[in-house]
Amino acid sequence: MRNIVVFASGAGSNAGSLFRQAKDGRFGKVRFFLISDNPNSGALKLARDAEIWNMCFNPGEKAARISSAAEHFLLEELKRINPSLIVLAGFMRIMPASLVGEFEGRMINLHPSLLPLYKGKDAIRRAFEAGEHSVGCTVHYVSNELDGGCIIAQSKVDVLNGDTLDTLTQRVHEAEHKLLGSVVAELLRKEDA
Ligand code: GAR
Repeated sequence: MRNIVVFASGAGSNAGSLFRQAKDGRFGKVRFFLISDNPNSGALKLARDAEIWNMCFNPGEKAARISSAAEHFLLEELKRINPSLIVLAGFMRIMPASLVGEFEGRMINLHPSLLPLYKGKDAIRRAFEAGEHSVGCTVHYVSNELDGGCIIAQSKVDVLNGDTLDTLTQRVHEAEHKLLGSVVAELLRKEDA
């Protein structure tokens, strides 16, 4: 049995998609864990509803960063879980270097742009407003550079005539669900080999 930890801050559609794919058997024998920094997140509710181990931690008052108390707490908790994979799926905080170092090569992030374009927040909106003809999403290993680690896979989404930010965002999310599921399945397969 392998452990997969998902970090999510918001709606949790990507976490939910992973939970469904796991239930359908796509990832073999795995146990999911959901960790959130937001007690009101949809991600936490999805985990509770699916009876997936879940936890909300207090990130402290440091804007996009997390407090050193939260950092130590998470490090101990993650060491205890000993995950094969940590997936940042809409986790809107910067992972501290101690965690990135401890889980190097086992921590991946999903980002809603064709990196290295549009790093950081509001990537879809910025790409849409810039008049890009195609946007997309990326899964990459987490490094200490924001949205800057080695790219594992990307999926392109064309901007269609008449697209609004909402319709485009919806298609990027659909592409994300597919891409993230494929990457997780592939990384687990590689670990088996
Ligand atoms: C996703 O689009 C994900 O790529 C993005 O947050 C959204 C979460 O959606 N992540 C980032 O922007 C990280 N920089 P979800 O909560 O429905 O999965």
